[in-house]
Amino acid sequence: MQGPFVSAPMAGVSSPAFRLMARRAGASLVYTEMVSAVGLVRGHKLTLDLCQVEPRERPLALQLFGADPEIMAQAARLVAQMPVDVVDVNLGCPAKKIRRQGAGSALLDQPALAAEIVEAVARASQAPVTVKLRLGFKSDQLEEILPGILKAGAAAVCLHARTAKQGFAGAADWGAIARLKSWCPVPVIGNGDVRGGAQAVEMLRQTGCDGVMIGRAALGNPWIFERAQARLQGREPRRVPAGERRAALWEHMELARLHGGPNQAMHFARQFMMWYSKGQPESAAYRRQAGRAQELASLISLTGQYFDRLEELEPAEQAPAAWEAAS
Ligand SMILES: Cc1cc2nc3c(=O)[nH]c(=O)nc-3n(C[C@H](O)[C@H](O)[C@H](O)COP(=O)(O)O)c2cc1C
Repeated sequence: MQGPFVSAPMAGVSSPAFRLMARRAGASLVYTEMVSAVGLVRGHKLTLDLCQVEPRERPLALQLFGADPEIMAQAARLVAQMPVDVVDVNLGCPAKKIRRQGAGSALLDQPALAAEIVEAVARASQAPVTVKLRLGFKSDQLEEILPGILKAGAAAVCLHARTAKQGFAGAADWGAIARLKSWCPVPVIGNGDVRGGAQAVEMLRQTGCDGVMIGRAALGNPWIFERAQARLQGREPRRVPAGERRAALWEHMELARLHGGPNQAMHFARQFMMWYSKGQPESAAYRRQAGRAQELASLISLTGQYFDRLEELEPAEQAPAAWEAAS
């Protein structure tokens, strides 16, 4: 990995377009969203679509979820035919629909089965196998959950430092990442609540973790990886000009269209426009109008006008905007 900052798996978000933007901005590893092992083994089209990878995105981790070791192994054998560098096992998803299948964070209550799954995937896989998990269901149970999983062959552990019960509530417990790092024999990737480049470096320093995974803060903000890398090297991050922000938005939309087809163009256009304008000057009125637009053409035109305005507002000097200076 070139650098410690990695882009998180996010269902409905970490598409090839999102991953390419993150890689280009300096993420050292990108993840697919979680992929159903059952869907893959049965050859469901929507599941297979999630496994499309472009060589430019690599290194890439494909994340599998499932509850049955044999099906997970079959899925891993299929993944072995794909251009994938790491196979990650999801042991943390708190969504009811996943837990009901006995997968994701349901496996935190079944450490022996979780270890069996990791072992089956490691046997079937040519790439290293890693796990992404939460602290436990209600409390930090990592010292009970992880030893079997490590013995089964997990090559690294990514910890989203919340319990499954917490969902996204409360603050991520970075102290738990430090505790895990103090005894875990394989690399630890810390995750949870990193909002800017400075905070990403802070997580490395506070916890001693080997890598930092960034999720929500990278929506419409691939530059967070560049900013984190600059901070790590003791450099002041550069200011991202409005023109570059606009170009990234158009490119993200174009990549999404190329990979996902035109059917959901309106949905994605609105989603990306919201992401890329978040926190920008005078964005509230634009975001309200964009939220109401019915036609793609009017959405694009509104967006063009807004970014023209952003360029007008841009200070001539290269001082970072206030929100950027803090990240
Ligand atoms: C929309 C969304 C989808 C997510 N999908 C997945 C997923 O497919 N697999 C997974 O392991 N975690 C998933 N997560 C959790 C993130 O990978 C990450 O652990 C979490 O957002 C905390 O990191 P953050 O504070 O940097 O966002 C998802 C999170 C969000 C917001």
